[in-house]
Amino acid sequence: MHLSKDSAASPILPACKYALPRLKCAISLVGSADAIFSNWAIRSGVLIPPWYRSICHNAHVLTLLTNLGGISLRSPLIGAAGTVGYTNELADAGALDSLGAVTSKSLTRLERVGNAVPRIIPSKVGMLNAIGLANMGIDRFLAERAQDAGSMPCHLFASIAGHSVDDFVSVAERIDAESTIPLIEVNVSCPNTSDGRHFSADPASLSALLKVVRANVKRAKLFAKLPPDSDSVALAAAAVDAGVDGLTLSNTMPAMAIEVHSRRARLSNGRGGLSGPAIHPIVVRVVHDVYSQVSKGRVPIIGLGGVMNGEDAAELVLAGATAIGLGTVLLAEPSAPLRIASQLRSWVREQGCSNMSELVGQLRM
Ligand SMILES: Cc1cc2nc3c(=O)[nH]c(=O)nc-3n(C[C@H](O)[C@H](O)[C@H](O)COP(=O)(O)O)c2cc1C
Repeated sequence: MHLSKDSAASPILPACKYALPRLKCAISLVGSADAIFSNWAIRSGVLIPPWYRSICHNAHVLTLLTNLGGISLRSPLIGAAGTVGYTNELADAGALDSLGAVTSKSLTRLERVGNAVPRIIPSKVGMLNAIGLANMGIDRFLAERAQDAGSMPCHLFASIAGHSVDDFVSVAERIDAESTIPLIEVNVSCPNTSDGRHFSADPASLSALLKVVRANVKRAKLFAKLPPDSDSVALAAAAVDAGVDGLTLSNTMPAMAIEVHSRRARLSNGRGGLSGPAIHPIVVRVVHDVYSQVSKGRVPIIGLGGVMNGEDAAELVLAGATAIGLGTVLLAEPSAPLRIASQLRSWVREQGCSNMSELVGQLRM
């Protein structure tokens, strides 16, 4: 049982500290102390009753409890597509308990090997990747990995990608039939394939795709994952108009790096997507614009880009994000969700709030 630091400040506890050991001693004389105190804990020499531990634990959990378009998340932190494997790969780092959900790698109709290496390189303020949607394909995912959802302490969301409307629809329908996956994230914004990007090139193409996917997804919530470098407000408005339940803002920023001695591009694909701290201020702006001009609190936003700590996450919340994605930080520090959840919880309390949702979109201009 984890106790928050705040719990030590209670006026009840000093009293317990002195009275209860004596009471325990007195009762032990009549032989029943073990039965009475068997569920009590001792923290820093203080006896903690089980009901008090339960109140503290509930307050601790309630601070970050979030509702994302009808899905209850015990943490607003979400592992971003492509950075957390397929399902429970972060379990060994102990990170799943601090996440509300993990998002699978983007799944396509057929298995994809992706681009040739080098397809990941560091940059001064983040990293560039051009993985090219390498993934095991929807058949193998459903046969080999989807069942992991049942034993995970957080939700499993599925990211899907494709090259045609039919591709997206067929993968979305298969996921929709899998009752353990409550949310489908439609990745229309991958900058690392030659043909996967055109659906977010303009609002009309995006709307045409999402309307068809929406018509074929009956059960799962549908989110659209948009790029950070287009007219985000127009794309978000088109997605909402097409009937999505929420928006993920955003994917990586198209970028490039050159090795000057050989005069060749550092990524085999030539260009790739920039992620990490470099894109954070861009994403804060995108989330703010979309929250204030399109969603207005009615359509939830997963803010995603360059979150490295609780303060970065808090910025996205104030800009309008209901949940916060973690990507690049997990590649460097797989246990980061524990640290970031704790920092975020401290910020919510410092702001005088009992739940993070009170702060969504509360930027003071
Ligand atoms: C190595 C790598 C692979 C990624 N693969 C995917 C993917 O398969 N599908 C997707 O929608 N986004 C993918 N992304 C983008 C991330 O989900 C996220 O949108 C982006 O990295 C920005 O967040 P960050 O700055 O916190 O990393 C990938 C990012 C990285 C770094």
